[in-house]
Amino acid sequence: MDDVITVDDTFSADRALRLIGRGSALHWTGDFHNAKQLLAALGRRVPVRRDGPFHTQRRRQAERARILNSLHVPMHDHTITLRRAPDVRAAYEEAFGPQGKEGPGEERPHGDRPGRERTPAAGPRWVPLRELLGVIGAYELRHRGVYVPALGQRIHPHYGVFAPTRSEYADLIAGQPLPTTGTAFDVGTGTGLLAAILSRRGIRHVVATDNNPRAITCARDNLRRLQMNATVLETDLFPPGRADLVVCNPPWIPATPITPLDHAVYDEDGRMLRTFLNTVRDHLEPGGEVWLILSDLAELLGLRSRGELLELVRGGGLEVVGRADITPRHRRARAETTSLWQLRPATTPAAAGLHRATE
Ligand SMILES: C[S@@+](CC[C@H](N)C(=O)[O-])C[C@H]1O[C@@H](n2cnc3c(N)ncnc32)[C@H](O)[C@@H]1O
Repeated sequence: MDDVITVDDTFSADRALRLIGRGSALHWTGDFHNAKQLLAALGRRVPVRRDGPFHTQRRRQAERARILNSLHVPMHDHTITLRRAPDVRAAYEEAFGPQGKEGPGEERPHGDRPGRERTPAAGPRWVPLRELLGVIGAYELRHRGVYVPALGQRIHPHYGVFAPTRSEYADLIAGQPLPTTGTAFDVGTGTGLLAAILSRRGIRHVVATDNNPRAITCARDNLRRLQMNATVLETDLFPPGRADLVVCNPPWIPATPITPLDHAVYDEDGRMLRTFLNTVRDHLEPGGEVWLILSDLAELLGLRSRGELLELVRGGGLEVVGRADITPRHRRARAETTSLWQLRPATTPAAAGLHRATE
């Protein structure tokens, strides 16, 4: 950050944008609600654009985040020291741990924070207002919960965990005839939603995994609230043992995550999907089945073709035995289709041979 400028209620959005454009961070000392209004005005001046190639869109998004994260507010011991500021202590403690032990300076809630600076312990910590509002929003969502029709109950997402705010994919898991009532794995469980649906549907032994510790705590919390008897393990992909059914709703865009929160959506080089498909066969009981939930957004964005996906399936020694599709309920949502791909170990000699060749 080139320089820091102290600003207050007298500052216009145009002037703020000019200074940010020159590389300045703005330290707000006025009224909290006026700071929110300035942030909203900045947002209107740099609108989200969804046209152009994917990589151009992402570059614009990163630039927009840089601009909006340049407006900082002072925080001291998880308290915003501004006029009319809300009490954010509970939200910060829930997201980052008790005061002094952990904080957004120690664990970065987002990666795109050009303006964060460490200040001496006695002074305030300056936090991007946009991130602060994200922490508050996550706190409210966690306590309100998200009603999931396929479960008939609310799921409570924690900060930093994929929230099923658009949960059509859960309908696919709830509606597909079950091949077993024995053992199921839910790989990349997030809030634990799919594990809860499997358990609710009568699968006796459900094991859910995730490699994000926040997701592990969150899934355990949700499964306990729902009184579901599932095991939750922090691990990369699969738990020990084999299952009759392996379910996975992986991050669906094969591109580099920019912020820690991106890891639920962006899969670097498609690594998780590739490794999952390449090894899932070794985690299936004889006669077992895989349910892969995948949106076709990567195909619509030109990041992966349908042919490449089917090649990954074949490369893992699997074949497609069924597919169920669903489109978003929300009218304004993108025109993407989410599918439940029903996969089994390939019986055709060519496909089975392909898997052996890659083992
Ligand atoms: C799209 S979210 C799906 C969450 C949840 N299953 C659902 O359907 O709501 C993908 C999840 O996969 C997890 N994940 C990503 N890579 C993983 C890996 N290598 N091993 C285990 N979990 C992983 C992420 O942390 C995230 O919770």
